[in-house]
Amino acid sequence: MNTQTLNRKEWPIDHMGYENAVWHTPIIAGLVAAYPEAVYHEIGVLRGDCWRSAAANAAEAHGVDVMDSWPYMDNIGQLWHMKSQQFFREYDGPPPDVVFVDGDHYLPTCRNDVFSALSILAPGGTIAVHDTLPPPITRRELSGDGWQVREELERNMRLETFTIWRYPGLTFVRAR
Ligand SMILES: C[S@@+](CC[C@H](N)C(=O)[O-])C[C@H]1O[C@@H](n2cnc3c(N)ncnc32)[C@H](O)[C@@H]1O
Repeated sequence: MNTQTLNRKEWPIDHMGYENAVWHTPIIAGLVAAYPEAVYHEIGVLRGDCWRSAAANAAEAHGVDVMDSWPYMDNIGQLWHMKSQQFFREYDGPPPDVVFVDGDHYLPTCRNDVFSALSILAPGGTIAVHDTLPPPITRRELSGDGWQVREELERNMRLETFTIWRYPGLTFVRAR
């Protein structure tokens, strides 16, 4: 479903807050803009809705997706057409200032993406993780169970986290 073209009255009403599910885009784009000469990674590009705004604010941008997202990426940056796990094994570029984790939303991969991103993050960098609120705010079919990684991150005394508690949840993470 193309949510961009729906009339407000046509939005599905059984999906809490679905109509506002794209609000993360200007926030991620603004976060990238806060870093001069930013290096940006987006795990899960899909149709480039966030990418086109966020990557445009970066000096260097790397998108990762198992699908061919390149036609949607406005010729910005580089697509790593592979699973995120492989990307983190192969990436040897500069440390990213911002990593947006929005790929596979199931816990093992989500956790692996977040901690892999933390291991290569530039000093002072920020990770943003999408879909971090629990059911029934989110639904497993759409948001997986990766939201549990937020609780793990919140318990980690070496990390600082902040979550925007609006559907489907956006959590920021940085090293203390
Ligand atoms: C929610 S969409 C991304 C939306 C995009 N970040 C945005 O805000 O417009 C999730 C994307 O992750 C991709 N994906 C799923 N599992 C993946 C994995 N293991 N590695 C890389 N990409 C994955 C899917 O193909 C899909 O395009």
